[in-house]
Amino acid sequence: MDLTSQGYELYSNKAILAPMVRAGRTPLRMQTLDYGADVVYTEEIIDQKLLACQRKVNTTMDCIDYAQNDDIVLRICNAERQKCVLQIGTNSGEGAAGVAKLVGTDVAAIDVNMGCPKAFSVHAGMGAALLTQTDKVKEILTSLKAAAQVPISCKIRVLNDPSLTLNLVREIEKCGVSAIGVHGRKRNERNPDKVRIEEIREVARTVQVPIIANGLSDEIVKYSDIAEYKEKCAVSSVMLARRALWTPSIFRKEGLLTKEEEISDFLDKACEFEEQCAQTKYCIQRILTSTAHPKVQSTVSAGSLLEICRIWDKTPKYEHEKNERKRKSCKRKPEEER
Ligand code: FNR
Repeated sequence: MDLTSQGYELYSNKAILAPMVRAGRTPLRMQTLDYGADVVYTEEIIDQKLLACQRKVNTTMDCIDYAQNDDIVLRICNAERQKCVLQIGTNSGEGAAGVAKLVGTDVAAIDVNMGCPKAFSVHAGMGAALLTQTDKVKEILTSLKAAAQVPISCKIRVLNDPSLTLNLVREIEKCGVSAIGVHGRKRNERNPDKVRIEEIREVARTVQVPIIANGLSDEIVKYSDIAEYKEKCAVSSVMLARRALWTPSIFRKEGLLTKEEEISDFLDKACEFEEQCAQTKYCIQRILTSTAHPKVQSTVSAGSLLEICRIWDKTPKYEHEKNERKRKSCKRKPEEER
């Protein structure tokens, strides 16, 4: 079997930034890639929302934007294209296939969220609702596979009965996915419920397709833990969500950075990709973790990206990026008018 052509390579032996709503956007993805993450997932985007977007080539930021009017729903930087997995929320093969046709090769792969336990997702037949609907899962994945020009994968939670998890992954594998992310918790479990390492191991023993272990953020506190837990779970790759949010430099083999350094690097990316104020604040607060930091309150009260940059002494970067964008858009105009 040619593993490369199946897209296994993308997901094998990788340290991965997990999908995270509000956080897994261009700045955090680019920051963690700079630090050493091998693959980065987008935040979950609902298929219908993406299907309502216009695709625009953004030459001033070297990105591809999917936008609804001025609302940028997805911004993929050209530098991350080969490493960025688009995660979608969907309850239909048609919707998933539509997304695959829309994004083509703008992303490295497409992943289906089959683990989100939140009411808005489950009530719409998406996320964790899919875990017990094998026929629906098959419909979604086979339609997606048929339409996609890139590898496909999905991210699940373990089921109440471990044998049902194994049945599900066997069926998923048959649909031609290139990886399965396994969050080692059940649908009704939350942190600090212990991650079920043995159940992840059992999944990895059962199928050939690369398994990505997830749910390990309480266990993984330094770079070398990533390899250690890859071994412990006997998986192909490890995917981090909360740890990467609290400590993006977890992906640095050279070691962790200080919170201030991480925030400075995050703000560089926020300036480069003109991130929204609310999302920027959210990520900074998560990196700070504690509310005791002297800059927390002013950051929370800030009303713009510029204000946040002032608080963190990043005004020169903000101004530089703003001027660069202006310069590039002026330079471009005569060519476009020709
Ligand atoms: C998540 N998670 C998540 N999962 C997913 O499949 N799609 C998503 O968009 C999100 N969004 C999201 C946002 C935030 C802020 C958090 C903390 C989590 C779940 C996440 O990817 C992961 O499965 C769990 O957090 C368990 O992994 P960790 O945190 O132990 O590494």
